Amino acid sequence: MSCSIIYQNVRYTYSDGTEALQGLSFELTHGEHVALLGPNGAGKSTAMLLSNGVLMPTSGTVEVGHLILSDETLVRIRQRVGLVFQDPDDQLFMTTVFDDVAFGPRNKGLNNQEVKERVTEALEAVSLLQVQNKAPQDLSFGQKKRVALATILAMQPDFLILDEPTSNLDPRGRRQMMTLLSSIHATLLIATHDLDMVWELLPRSIILDEGTIVADGPTKELLQDEALLTAHGLELPSAVRFAR
Ligand SMILES: Nc1ncnc2c1ncn2[C@@H]1O[C@H](COP(=O)(O)OP(=O)(O)OP(=O)(O)O)[C@@H](O)[C@H]1O
Ligand SMILES: [Mg+2]
Repeated sequence: MSCSIIYQNVRYTYSDGTEALQGLSFELTHGEHVALLGPNGAGKSTAMLLSNGVLMPTSGTVEVGHLILSDETLVRIRQRVGLVFQDPDDQLFMTTVFDDVAFGPRNKGLNNQEVKERVTEALEAVSLLQVQNKAPQDLSFGQKKRVALATILAMQPDFLILDEPTSNLDPRGRRQMMTLLSSIHATLLIATHDLDMVWELLPRSIILDEGTIVADGPTKELLQDEALLTAHGLELPSAVRFAR
């Protein structure tokens, strides 16, 4: 079974005419951990929403493990691609944290014992088992972000697509998130402005600007290229700045 995600000349235009993606082509191979970088409005979130068919390409193709994204393949692709939204309020909709994390495993038809195990494991991974009976809307923003990730971890997807997983986390929460991310074996694509995390965790980076890929290569090369970063609203990670 192929475990690649391939975007081929993907364009996406919103209904108001905004051309958010203008011909993206890239491939993520099995087990790769990749950063998606770029300034606000570059198209990162839009690109991610296309990975499991929340949005469908205006033109071009998204391929997941030999399946071309379409209405016919949507259900099968969603079983393999777990997408964590930028805003956790878009992900959490049940009355308790437990039910939110249990939603995917229940949908897969797992029995109550298996569901409970998946929920416990996923909430432990994000260090939030103690809030399992709370209402998601009563959590802090950072806690909601971690619960949103747990809802996807509980599905055990082959591909994890995470939109800004460390934004709004306190330093300890960010460090816990990074430890968790580094332990993930699935293919990982992370949109983020946290370049220090990228430097530490993600060997490959793709830089987007105005809906186009402007660079795709080893993080340790791209994130030392000050001219490239500055041209696209980014800056050197602190590890690079301090070493100079
Ligand atoms: N629902 C929408 N309707 C119309 N335009 C949209 C919509 N969502 C996003 N856009 C536009 O599409 C472009 C890409 O937005 P997107 O959210 O993908 O950027 P981003 O790289 O994720 O930015 P950020 O770093 O701020 O999260 C922007 O010009 C944005 O204004
Ligand atoms: Mg975004």
